[in-house]
Amino acid sequence: MKILVTGGCGFIGSNLVRYLLEEAGEGVEKIVNLDLLTYAGNPANLSDLENRDDYTFVQGDIGDTELVPRLLKEHEVDLVMNLAAESHVDRSIDSPEPFIQTNVTGTLRLLEAARHHVAERSGEAKDRFRFQHISTDEVYGSLDRDEPAFTEKTPFAPNSPYAASKASADFLVRAYHHTFGLATLTTNCSNNYGSFHFPEKLIPLIILNALEGRPLPIYGDGSNIRDWLYVGDHCRALWLVATRGRPGETYNIGGDSERTNIDIVRTICRLLDERRPRPGKGYESLIEFVKDRPGHDQRYAVDFSKLNAELGWSPTQTLESGLEKTVDWYLEHLDWCRDITNNNYQRQRLGTTP
Ligand code: NAD
Ligand code: DAU
Repeated sequence: MKILVTGGCGFIGSNLVRYLLEEAGEGVEKIVNLDLLTYAGNPANLSDLENRDDYTFVQGDIGDTELVPRLLKEHEVDLVMNLAAESHVDRSIDSPEPFIQTNVTGTLRLLEAARHHVAERSGEAKDRFRFQHISTDEVYGSLDRDEPAFTEKTPFAPNSPYAASKASADFLVRAYHHTFGLATLTTNCSNNYGSFHFPEKLIPLIILNALEGRPLPIYGDGSNIRDWLYVGDHCRALWLVATRGRPGETYNIGGDSERTNIDIVRTICRLLDERRPRPGKGYESLIEFVKDRPGHDQRYAVDFSKLNAELGWSPTQTLESGLEKTVDWYLEHLDWCRDITNNNYQRQRLGTTP
């Protein structure tokens, strides 16, 4: 398949591109990575792939109505994997508009381009086309402690501007299948963690702050629960759904690893205490409880039994094994982290001297 990955320079996108080229096997012929390179996109995440014949990077917007149709045609794209998004809940609270622009309008324009692209194909090429939309469990809202996990039938109840923008996009994808017969696939996944995770998100933020001796901020009382999934397991699920999922369906992807935020932070502190002991007090002494996130969802938990029953997927990493790999990755890639925290990665791509 010839694949257009959008948002391939972000956290999950860069792990996915690497997975497709290095692990997915023969089904992958070529990848075109379309990424606008917002603050969250870092070309260094994939710089080692630059010279491969089966990989092309294009800087651009999923909402560009001239560029996207041209790429679909020129590269004879069979599969779109749409990961491009504004992804950080706190930013959506500070400034919601970019979330509507990319997550809603951008997805709509991408769907429209895909619809016309398919209309111009015929025979087997037409049949094989898929539009895969990568979404989040946050569209389902928040669970109380004793409620069952989200299933694909849980009604949408998004609570943040980010979640509302993703839910809107999910509905557009649904409508393009129902109305135009576009062969869509939607996945709703829980919290990912792993390599190349941008350090505005909880896990990398805690690792980097701890190593620099800065406070470890925990919103509210730290009792909020997320269902954590190692990013490599997410990528494997995405490829399975892309190649074997049923068009028009949505699939939940989860980690079977519900933890409170305070548990996550304490586990990271323990792993760092073992690997890089701090003189004097351990890392936990840096924990600070801070003002809560407005509208903070209490709990997410994802029931992925449909994906398991239909395609045999389940996570391979436990939270403990995945967190160990993640902490080790950050310790081995402190230069990558420093470039981000000093903002050098953006200056480099603008061609200025850091
Ligand atoms: P990210 O913020 O790390 O990366 C997003 C990427 O999209 C960046 O490279 C950015 O430059 C690019 N981008 C933004 N706007 C664009 C535009 N208009 N056109 C082209 N590229 C653009 O995000 P992530 O954490 O890797 O998430 C990827 C996708 O997976 C998102 O759609 C997100 O909603 C979804 N998701 C994320 C998680 C998670 O835990 N991170 C969980 C479930 C679903
Ligand atoms: O559930 C999937 C979602 O997971 C994705 O759709 C989003 O793109 C992704 O960003 C993530 O959203 P969260 O808001 O859950 O992730 P974040 O890492 O921002 O926060 C995780 C939890 O930690 C959440 O309960 C808020 C809390 N938190 C976060 C930060 C940044 C803190 O306590 N302190 C912090 O400094």
